Parts: sequence; structure tokens; C-alpha cells
Amino acid sequence: MEAEPRELDREDFWAACAAPAVEALAACATPEDVERVRVRFLGRQSPLSLALRRLRDLPDERRRQAGLLGNRTRTALEEALRAREGELSRAAAARRLEAEVVDVTLPGRRPALGHPHPLVTVRREVEAIFASLGFTVADGPEVEGEWYNFEALNMPPDHPAREMHDSFYLDARAGPDEPPGRLLLRTHTSPVQVRYMLGRGGRLPVRIIAPGRVYRRDEDATHSPMFHQVEGLLLGQGVAFSHLKGVLTEFARRLYGPQTEVRLRPSYFPFTEPSAEADVTCAFCGGSGCRTCKGSGWIEILGAGMVHPRVLEAGGYDPERVSGFAFGVGIDRLAMLRYGIPDMRLLFEGDLRFLDQF
Ligand code: DAH
Repeated sequence: MEAEPRELDREDFWAACAAPAVEALAACATPEDVERVRVRFLGRQSPLSLALRRLRDLPDERRRQAGLLGNRTRTALEEALRAREGELSRAAAARRLEAEVVDVTLPGRRPALGHPHPLVTVRREVEAIFASLGFTVADGPEVEGEWYNFEALNMPPDHPAREMHDSFYLDARAGPDEPPGRLLLRTHTSPVQVRYMLGRGGRLPVRIIAPGRVYRRDEDATHSPMFHQVEGLLLGQGVAFSHLKGVLTEFARRLYGPQTEVRLRPSYFPFTEPSAEADVTCAFCGGSGCRTCKGSGWIEILGAGMVHPRVLEAGGYDPERVSGFAFGVGIDRLAMLRYGIPDMRLLFEGDLRFLDQF
């Protein structure tokens, strides 16, 4: 709107400037529409702004009156825009509130809380018991060399005990810095004994447990191709079989209760001499005989023995000076006994209907 400077002090001129804005404002439906009106009618290139800028061309005595009218028009328009925008945002908010109504009286949805797998619970318990007896936790690789898994444990290549370990061999051999042989998935945690001894460089004492996964070609209700063991190894001077029995008894009583009895039966393992298997009184019947212990009142939980001199030598210890004991526990078996789980495979199927019971 072009304006002759002489029109600037006339009220109808300014009213005409504002009228289209007021009309556009009435047609606004959203706060964004109002913003567009603001740019168009109050922006730098709007007729109103252009007219206000031309005030300076007026002589002093007319500029006062014209300025008063012009500024009043702008203020009124700004005011109208603000009011309309407020109105429209309140309406929009009210519409949203109505659309997004939350019924706080509806019952809540409980978040699904996970929990440790029963095997983890048992492993942690075993670790805590041995930690309190002064053992630390060691570990070793699950892909192991034949030398560590067998040879160093007094099972040379033609040893019949190797056949009892139906092994998973890899199509690969140990690296150039390792003792020669094939690679396999370790069939027990016993090779950690050897690795730990070698890393300890002949120092005493040695007092470790080594929990971990082990693998054998075996699958039925009480065997899984992947299962878990905890290996134990204690070396010192003058360590005797009675120490082994003491530690195992303490372990069993902490795990199954103070009334638990431990019985050691002579057995055979290539890496211990003498060797034993340890039974505990059945936690289900207390020793009177039930289905779980097959009527015997006893349940076998581990293998153990005095470390064989050849194993000490392979680990860099002098069998004339140092003695010790070792043991190997199946954690899966401990968990099955603890929770009355009839089939080991249930532990590995990941079925939440099963796992949620623990
Ligand atoms: N390595 C044996 C197995 O997997 C368990 C075992 C028995 C470990 C006697 C030992 C031991 O350290 O002394 O069947």
C-alpha cells in the first residue's frame, strides 16, 4: 500500500492498513497460521512497516500525530495476534489432551524381570564357597590344544582314557609357539590346572578354581554336548589327602547343609594318584534312599585326587618338593540335584516356562 506522506496522519489510513490483517487473523485455524499472518502484516516488507518507515519524511509537527497513530495501530495488531495465537494454542492443547487421555485407574503392566539362570546361581555359590576358603578364580581357553587337554594331564596319545572323552576336534593344529598337536574343544576344565601352573612359574601356594564350559560328543537325559565344570587345584608343601577330604567336606556342607556326609570311593583318573570319587548324602532323602539316589542314599558329585607327579612336572613343579590335590565338579549335575531337574537338556533349551521356575 503506497501512501503519500500527507495521508500518514489520518486515522482511516492506518485503519485501512490494519483491516486486512484483522480479517486474515479471523481466518486462522492454527498457531502456525497466526505466525504467517505476523510475517505478512508486521514483517519488514509489510505495508504497515513501510508506512512507519516513511514517517521520517514528515515535517516535525505532523510526525508526532502520525507516529502516535501508526504506533498505536502496530501495538493493537501485535496485541490481536498474541491473543489469537494464545486462543488457538489453548484450543490445540485441549484437543490433544482429549485425544491422549490416560486412564490412570487401569491396572499397571508389570515389567518382565529377568533373573540368573539356575546354572549361574549354582556357579556363583560354588565360587563364593571356595573364595571364602582362599581360592581364586582362574580360566583358560575353550579351544584347547591336545597337549594341555591330554598329554600334560598324563594321557599320552595311546592312553585308553582318551576314548572316554569323545572329543570335538577342530580342523586345525596348535600354533608354532604352542606344544604340537591338534586343537579341540576342551573335554574338561583340567587343562586350566596346567596353564595356571606354568603361568605361576613354580611359585607356591597354588589355590585356584576354574569354572567353565566343556564339550563332549554325548547327549541324553544326563549328558549334554556342552556342559559345565569347576576345576580345583591346590599345591603346597606337605599337602595330604586329608586336606583334600577336609576341603571337599566343607564344600559339600556349605552347599547342601551341615548335616551332609561325604564319602570318598577309590577311583581312577590319569592325572591323580590316588584318585577318588566323592559322594554326598542324598539331599532329597537325607540318606535313607529315594528315586534320585536310586535307593543308595548317596549321590556322586565329583572326581578328585592327589595331583600325579607327571602332571606336577608338566606344570613346572618338582614332585619331590611339592604336593597337592585337584578335583573336578559338574555344575550342571549340582544344579539338577539342587533343583530336582530330571533332564540336563532342559538347562540349555532356553524355554522360559522352564527357567521362570527358579
Ligand atoms: N577332569 C575329570 C573329568 O572331566 C574330572 C576330574 C577328576 C578333575 C579328578 C580332577 C580330578 O581335577 O582330580 O571327568
